[in-house]
Amino acid sequence: MTHLDTLRRMGLFDARVPRYTSYPPATAFTPAQGADFQVSCLQSLDPATPVSVYIHIPFCERLCWFCACRTQGTSTLKPVAHYLEVVKDELALLRATLPAGVTMGQMHWGGGTPTILPPEMIRDLAQAVKDVIPPAPDFSFSVEIDPTLVDDAKIAALAEMGMTRASIGIQDFARDVQEAIGRKQSFAQTRACVDSLRAAGITSLNADLVYGLPFQTAAKLAATIAKVRALDPDRIALFGYAHVPSFSKRQKLIPDAALPGEEDRYHLARQAAAAFTGSGYEPIGIDHFAKPADSLAIAAKTGHLRRNFQGYTDDTCPTLIGIGASSISQFAQGYVQNASATAAYIERVAAGQLAGHRGYEMTAADRLRATAINMLMCDFAIDLERLAQHAGAAELAPIHDTILQDFAGMVVKDAGHIRITPAGRALTRIIAQRYDGFAGIAAQYSQAS
Ligand SMILES: C[S@@+](CC[C@H](N)C(=O)[O-])C[C@H]1O[C@@H](n2cnc3c(N)ncnc32)[C@H](O)[C@@H]1O
Ligand code: SF4
Repeated sequence: MTHLDTLRRMGLFDARVPRYTSYPPATAFTPAQGADFQVSCLQSLDPATPVSVYIHIPFCERLCWFCACRTQGTSTLKPVAHYLEVVKDELALLRATLPAGVTMGQMHWGGGTPTILPPEMIRDLAQAVKDVIPPAPDFSFSVEIDPTLVDDAKIAALAEMGMTRASIGIQDFARDVQEAIGRKQSFAQTRACVDSLRAAGITSLNADLVYGLPFQTAAKLAATIAKVRALDPDRIALFGYAHVPSFSKRQKLIPDAALPGEEDRYHLARQAAAAFTGSGYEPIGIDHFAKPADSLAIAAKTGHLRRNFQGYTDDTCPTLIGIGASSISQFAQGYVQNASATAAYIERVAAGQLAGHRGYEMTAADRLRATAINMLMCDFAIDLERLAQHAGAAELAPIHDTILQDFAGMVVKDAGHIRITPAGRALTRIIAQRYDGFAGIAAQYSQAS
């Protein structure tokens, strides 16, 4: 049996599993923990510990067919301007709820496309957030940037407001792949964006790539990787294309027949990983790469890597306050997600209410499972001594044993760890799911490979 046959037998191509950007996954959230829970979590924050802030901008000028993000297309700035006013109203509600003195260690703007905002709206929004939650001394600010919808003036406004890290969407540079995913983006345009970001003093740059896209081949991916290397990003996110047309209707424009088969998809992922590690990047978790001196690589080496809704992070703030439609807040007590549809979000805030509508209150048993899953997703190993610091850790022993049996050769027990071997890393999400107490709930997850 080949290695690939073994991975197939262990479920690599059949499993549909969460990405574990949170545990429990958002599919386990319920309306029982909505705005009231959000208020009590916010009120209990300790002002001595800075928080992270996430702002969701659910607008794009063009809608790429492959994209599964919560966003909507707009050809004018009118709905965007209205949305920003609502976000400012949400900030006013937060100001009325938060204890005095809370500061912001990190801010991230995602979407959608935050760079749909013109420079004056960028300044206005950033200032509005800072007025309510002032930046802590080591404040950092990252922004998702569409290289086709940004210019020097927008980058200058972001830099002026303190942007320290930029994440640019690339996906793939091959023309037919871009046509098949409804996203045209030239290398020259991307290069100009990178040059402009560097000229504005941005020293930490991430590039998003996707494997498993329609018409992608090994040769086309190699050409894309060569171009990405020429751009010299500090970090790379290499996402497997999640094809979930029942959830993201625009993906119906992508014919199934154009998608690489499961084995091709597996080889594309391995090819890209080998190319990036071969050129000096360190692999980080299941789908990231970073230069050795980058803070993400340092966090991974020192055991401080964490998983959050943006993927992997070295963010040390224990609290994340999500602002805007569909944003998720993370508190010591659990999670709260804002109303997902932009219209529903606007309605709630207009009614003078915080926008949380679903959430989850963590129990001690959830925290134990969350720790095990986070260790696997970040370190490929459960540190049994650290896990034992949680009450009830012994309850997970039968799961460790079953995993060692079911994934023999891919999971080993050594020096106090349950460790996924390099050969088994493609199975990480599947193995992590064994610790998931919600694994039985019906939900549409993306494929594991
Ligand atoms: C929220 S998008 C923002 C990117 C920005 N608007 C742009 O277009 O450059 C962040 C990233 O999510 C990833 N992404 C979106 N849909 C995906 C899907 N269906 N499967 C895998 N990755 C996806 C893409 O790599 C994208 O760059
Ligand atoms: S990839 Fe970016 S620009 Fe394209 S639809 Fe998604 S969020 Fe919008």
